[in-house]
Amino acid sequence: MSDAPILSAPTFEHHPTGFGLGHSRPRLSWRFIPSSDGQYPKDWQQASYELEITPLGSTPEVFPVKSAESVLVPWPGKTLQSRETASVRGRACSTTGTYTDWSPFSQVEVGLLQPTDWTGEFIGAAKKFQATRESLRPIRLQRGFDLPKKARALLKARLYITALGVYEARLNGVCIGQDVLAPGWTSYHHRLVYQTYDVTQLLSSGNNVLSVEVAEGWYAGRLGFGGGRRYIYGDELGLLAQLEVTFEDNETWKLSSDTSWLCQTTSIVQSEFYDGETHDFRATDGEWAPVKTLNVPLNALTATDAPPIRVTEEMMPTQILRSASGKIILDFGQNLVGSLRINTALHLHAGSQLTLMYAEVLENAEIATRPLRHAKCTDRIVFGDKLVTSWQTKFTFHGFRYVQVDGWPGIPTVHDFTALVMHTDMKRRGWFSCSDSLVNKLHESIVWSMRGNFVGIPTDCPQRDERLGWTGDIQVFAPVATFLYDSHGIPGLVVSEILWDQWCKPSPQAVWHDAAVLTPWDAYTASSDVEILHRQYPSMKAWITKGIRRGDDGMWDGNVWQLGDWLDPNAPPEDAGNGRTNSLLVADAYLVHVTRTMAQISSVLGYQEDATFYENDAQMLKRGFQDKYLTPSGLLASDTQTGYSLAICMDLIGDDANDDSANMAVQNVAAARLGDLVRTSKFHISTGFVGTALICHALAQTDQTQLAYRMLLEKHCPSWLYPITMGATTTWERWDSMLPNGEVNGGAMTSFNHYALGAVASWLHGSVAGISTEDGWKTVMVAPKPGGSLTSAEATFEGPYGLVKCAWSLEGNQFVLTLTIPPNSKANPPLSSLISVSSPYTTRN
Ligand code: BGC
Repeated sequence: MSDAPILSAPTFEHHPTGFGLGHSRPRLSWRFIPSSDGQYPKDWQQASYELEITPLGSTPEVFPVKSAESVLVPWPGKTLQSRETASVRGRACSTTGTYTDWSPFSQVEVGLLQPTDWTGEFIGAAKKFQATRESLRPIRLQRGFDLPKKARALLKARLYITALGVYEARLNGVCIGQDVLAPGWTSYHHRLVYQTYDVTQLLSSGNNVLSVEVAEGWYAGRLGFGGGRRYIYGDELGLLAQLEVTFEDNETWKLSSDTSWLCQTTSIVQSEFYDGETHDFRATDGEWAPVKTLNVPLNALTATDAPPIRVTEEMMPTQILRSASGKIILDFGQNLVGSLRINTALHLHAGSQLTLMYAEVLENAEIATRPLRHAKCTDRIVFGDKLVTSWQTKFTFHGFRYVQVDGWPGIPTVHDFTALVMHTDMKRRGWFSCSDSLVNKLHESIVWSMRGNFVGIPTDCPQRDERLGWTGDIQVFAPVATFLYDSHGIPGLVVSEILWDQWCKPSPQAVWHDAAVLTPWDAYTASSDVEILHRQYPSMKAWITKGIRRGDDGMWDGNVWQLGDWLDPNAPPEDAGNGRTNSLLVADAYLVHVTRTMAQISSVLGYQEDATFYENDAQMLKRGFQDKYLTPSGLLASDTQTGYSLAICMDLIGDDANDDSANMAVQNVAAARLGDLVRTSKFHISTGFVGTALICHALAQTDQTQLAYRMLLEKHCPSWLYPITMGATTTWERWDSMLPNGEVNGGAMTSFNHYALGAVASWLHGSVAGISTEDGWKTVMVAPKPGGSLTSAEATFEGPYGLVKCAWSLEGNQFVLTLTIPPNSKANPPLSSLISVSSPYTTRN
């Protein structure tokens, strides 16, 4: 093997491709690629690097930099302008002077950086088209045009585009790109992302037609529970588009959205996220009607760093069932999020209807729609007098495993349908497996729940009248999310605002709003991107100093109602916050943790004064917590699994003023009590959102790893494996979303696709398989903790430095560990110390 590693082509910021980038000085990263046998040269550390940048039409310039950094290094070249392109490659040199080969080139193309780059305006229908009394009917906005020169004289053509709503764009009838539900969901008035497409190949000489269909989406559609609200961001669908063409002679030509466009209705007469889509083929395209400009300022426009929402997989039904009442039901064998395509041509009488109703589970051999609450989750096709050759929805999505099909002529076959799995097209990067097939299925179900709930922004659930960016959910799940997928560029936590501002009384919430500090910190520890902390620092401070409502003792004001350890299995089905653990204790424990994290963040950012202030404050709050909730011997006021897990994981027991043996004595009492509680509950879980993310870590941290495994492997309800034994393919919202007798839990909140309780996967990755990080994978913490009946486990992670792999197995009386650590990063404990572990623990490197 060569003694230098192979370098990947550089990447730009967190952008999936570098095309249409919104940065003029993008930070660059490169990874180290293992040779074909999966090996890296030993102990290769970077000492310096060279970057070669060639802006289009200029000569290459090489920038040598003495630095060990290979992730998000500063752009060394001149500042890029809107539309500018450049190719970039790099090579690195080790501490011993060995150079890598030059990496392959990557291309960057900057999008439109300034509002003044846009020459057009937002346009919408001059007269509103209602679908129903309340919802807006989707519209098509269109403009025909002639290219001023022959298409073969084209050098390049770019379409910059966004919508108020969700859109699908076509040029000369051909769909542009593969994105669906663009531009996704952001807090549109503050941040409206646009997309850039290369449309060079789609233009023709002579006549061309650019047409864009726009529907309500998140912008104007009904959002929220209890009937929800419409038009949260606006009540007019809109489009902003700019087609820019460059010919070979460098002449340019532009077409922008303006009042010369026309609009019409289409056969999609209604399209909503919660209720579904109706195609009425009797209603052919409507008369062309005028458009008007919409008064929307362009300063919220920004190029997106996040990958688009796409169809990432197609699935056939695994079987077609008859319900108890004789209905046709498609079973896809997997609870998934996306839409349905009918592959077969259908010709029914004009006016007849085909109805498709979506559900996650069956109850009494019928689709269970009650958990969907106010969401109808129904698509309809109304036939005209023409053949419908194939059909699929455009602007809606459903969370489903089952589809009830009413009105199908005859008996369908599985080949008539395809489920289109949709989500933000993030790059998968983390995998886990072990010798227990049920645990593997549990992990797989967690991955599916992440896929289904990352449609644009991370949401609580994908099916009922909610699908909102609940902060508590992502706060507990973020460490898992950043491991499984490159989920860094997903936009922030914007959508709860629509609840608090609109119809709930504003009320600060521990755990949920603590995401303001903890989730950027998790993103930072997974990526080492200090920019995130810089960007979020003002809102972190605002939350800590102004948001948290405090009592006289500086702790949470006890009058604030807290969600607490939400969905503790002991809470009544209709009162999910009424768990066993005092919700004020939960809030106060988080307060200490958040304040301490704030001290760490301030110190990373070099704000020493703040760091000292928060560190002192955290110590004071810890003492306050102990005065309020901890007995001198180490018992907690809330004698629960969640209480002790919080106290152990958040270092709330013991006092810096005491000596170690005194601290250890109280810590041991707390640890032993947690163990007792686990045994008393007969290894059943009795934690909600908060405790579930922590309990295995707490047990392992206190040398009770076997108890953690015993809980992990428990199959009776409530436990992680119980849903798997009931056929779950995604993580359930409740431990008993489906009761052992097959009935759906009577509580109003009963989703079958909620990632929060899947937070246990961080323990699977970090302790069962044994890899985790605190510094963006520069240091791989290697700490596999074998246990239970597992005989092997492994995790693979395609991280910022390259491939990390940790696999262990028990072979006879030997513990065999195989570890791959990429160049320019290191293992902790160091590889050398791992290798010297004495029998029965041996390692293979
Ligand atoms: C959501 C949860 C969320 C909770 C907070 C629920 O309706 O589905 O996941 O965190 O509300 O109140």
